[in-house]
Amino acid sequence: MSRYSRIAGTGGYLPKQVVTNDDLAKRVETSDDWIIERTGIRRRHIAAPEETASSMAEIAARQALEAAAMDPGALDLIILATSSPDRVFPSTACLLQQRLGVRSCAAFDVQAACSGFIFALSIADQYISAGNASRVLVVGTEVNSRSVDWDDRSTCILFGDGAGAVVLEASSELGIMSTHIHSDGHYQDLLYLPNPASNGEGSGNDESRTIRMQGSEVFKVAVNTLGRIVDETLEQNGLQKSDVDWLVPHQANIRIITATAKKLQLPMERVVVTVDEQGNTSSASIPLAFDEAVRDGRIKRGQTVLMEAFGGGFAWGSALLRY
Ligand code: COA
Repeated sequence: MSRYSRIAGTGGYLPKQVVTNDDLAKRVETSDDWIIERTGIRRRHIAAPEETASSMAEIAARQALEAAAMDPGALDLIILATSSPDRVFPSTACLLQQRLGVRSCAAFDVQAACSGFIFALSIADQYISAGNASRVLVVGTEVNSRSVDWDDRSTCILFGDGAGAVVLEASSELGIMSTHIHSDGHYQDLLYLPNPASNGEGSGNDESRTIRMQGSEVFKVAVNTLGRIVDETLEQNGLQKSDVDWLVPHQANIRIITATAKKLQLPMERVVVTVDEQGNTSSASIPLAFDEAVRDGRIKRGQTVLMEAFGGGFAWGSALLRY
């Protein structure tokens, strides 16, 4: 009998504080019109000083567990994607495990920048389909605001904070159909966050602590790469574009999202868009968007969902699933 990973529950958390484009225009030379036209972003949520990747992850995770009617103690595995961990070590997954009051199940982080959630989902799916785990919590959580240079108008407009989670359960019913992950480290200098604690770039000044990006180069590669991964995913599953009910993309830029929807010949009503309200929450963006569309009733059981992401590395990937 086939063994699938089925999404049993979803959860999400956004910090209370909202920063609008007009707020940013008070600090850097930009405007609401410019930001909306180039990115589709109107506002983003920013974590309070006491909030961290693990504290936000806990709220999203508890919601997902509740939706799945599952006790945290039943989990076999916790996989958490983040590029803004509370500590370099131990993993933020271990901190989340403690917050959930669980002991002994394996818990580890995955770092694949904005594609982290897809990479984490892919690993979770391999564990479940191989029979090595039956109940897995997968989380994407980010406090990007702590890595942003708030005086750099080309990056500070893009990012936001938040956390999203799904609980996967082994099932004989169709769930995740396939995942596809790729990386190309040759592009590492186009989008990166230095680590001041390492000996490579550790001068300790402000510049060595914030996100560096060549935006227009990232944009071009992202659009082409996402087009290719959509083809790869459909081909492997023998599906047509018309078989996809929903696209849940990583939320980096509305123009990148629109290009992928066009490639899929999918009307924008079938694309879950949160970038306008949340900005780019990196590895949290897909589970946050998925949770929103499940909770408001857009995505229904039995529908076919394509998730895709692209980010620093470059690292990119997709997941096709029956919800
Ligand atoms: N407000 C006003 N002007 C801005 C600005 C801002 N916030 N940010 C940059 N500009 C200016 C630039 O300085 C440049 O001015 P110049 O022509 O005088 O040098 C001009 O706008 C064009 O800059 P460019 O970087 O070519 O703009 P763009 O159309 O590529 O838009 C991004 C910039 C960042 C919005 C866009 O490249 C992007 O979204 N890229 C993808 C980034 C991304 O998604 N990263 C995460 C991947 S997971």
